[in-house]
Amino acid sequence: MQRIDVINGPNLNMLGRREPDIYGTDTLEQVDARVVAWGQRLGLEVTTFQSNREGDLIDRIQACRTSADGIVINAGALTHTSYAIHDALLAAEVPAVEVHLSNIHAREPWRAVSVLAPVVAGSIFGRGVVGYRDALRLLVNRAAAMPHTIAYGDHPEQVMDVRAPDDPGPHPVAVLVHGGFWRREWGRDTSDTLAVDLTARGWVTANVEYRRLGCDGGWPASVDDVATAIAHIVSHREVSSVTVFGHSSGGQLALVAGRATAVETVVALAPITDLAWAIELGTGAPSPAQFAGGHDPTGPMSPVAEPARGRQILVHGTADTEVPVEFSTRYVQAAEAAGITVNAIYPETGHFELLDPKTPVWEQVVTSL
Ligand code: DQA
Repeated sequence: MQRIDVINGPNLNMLGRREPDIYGTDTLEQVDARVVAWGQRLGLEVTTFQSNREGDLIDRIQACRTSADGIVINAGALTHTSYAIHDALLAAEVPAVEVHLSNIHAREPWRAVSVLAPVVAGSIFGRGVVGYRDALRLLVNRAAAMPHTIAYGDHPEQVMDVRAPDDPGPHPVAVLVHGGFWRREWGRDTSDTLAVDLTARGWVTANVEYRRLGCDGGWPASVDDVATAIAHIVSHREVSSVTVFGHSSGGQLALVAGRATAVETVVALAPITDLAWAIELGTGAPSPAQFAGGHDPTGPMSPVAEPARGRQILVHGTADTEVPVEFSTRYVQAAEAAGITVNAIYPETGHFELLDPKTPVWEQVVTSL
């Protein structure tokens, strides 16, 4: 079992009372209890610590050398200034993930700078308390199969995590495109559990990051990035086939990128297939309108306007409250009207369950490929 120390820095003892519109209404005690429970579900032994003093935080981080296998840290405002904490994290020699409840990139400019970011395995921000859960999961996935992060462009978001089976191959390639309404707060850690599962089944996986809203993304930059990432992995590996998996807004990106001939199969999980309809319904507002950015949402950015031609499997939960299942049923109608067959599966499940490889529907989809 992995031991993870969850360390909170200055002013986080004030959670619940401190700027609740920014940091939420949960107290630190409540947050810690949730984090310990999430850890148990992931098979982790989680300990928690908070201090307002930099030296105490440094002592605790140093102790993790022998007392923990990983660190989750919200260093509060010390994130932006403390090279001493940066150095302590290096000295601890265990992987760490930084968490921020708020979106530090959408506030005062000084908050956008994290001096810890260069020495952590991941930075999670703007997701509220669930950011701690996602940080734990990131550490679990890294421990299960260590990825190689490679750049496919010059922008810091143009990277992907690649994992390969031990045998020489050639292997089928799975390109994973995460969701999150194209927002910067949601990153490729959310699709990493699927990547780890696929690698264990003999796939080369490329879990793609791409430019998103707030970091130079939107139409067409985000789609261009996914297409470039696919081309990059195909040109650098001997591959037997290419399947693009996308969830939610990543499903939209996968279906659009899937129009290219290099892609044999698209697996779209709860995809947003129609930007105009998303804007009309208010689905994920205001992100769909921001993604369109003044371009025509009924045009090529919408998969319903131009369905992919290759093999495609759509999975959409009938209990999805984030992206209603009608986004998929309407896509299937549009594809059929264009003479394209789509394999659609509608399990009785919600939006995020489709990111869990333990579900029967995932087994069904992956074994059918
Ligand atoms: C914080 C963001 C920091 O800028 C701030 O100083 C905090 C909390 C967050 O969780 O969003 O104290 O780390």
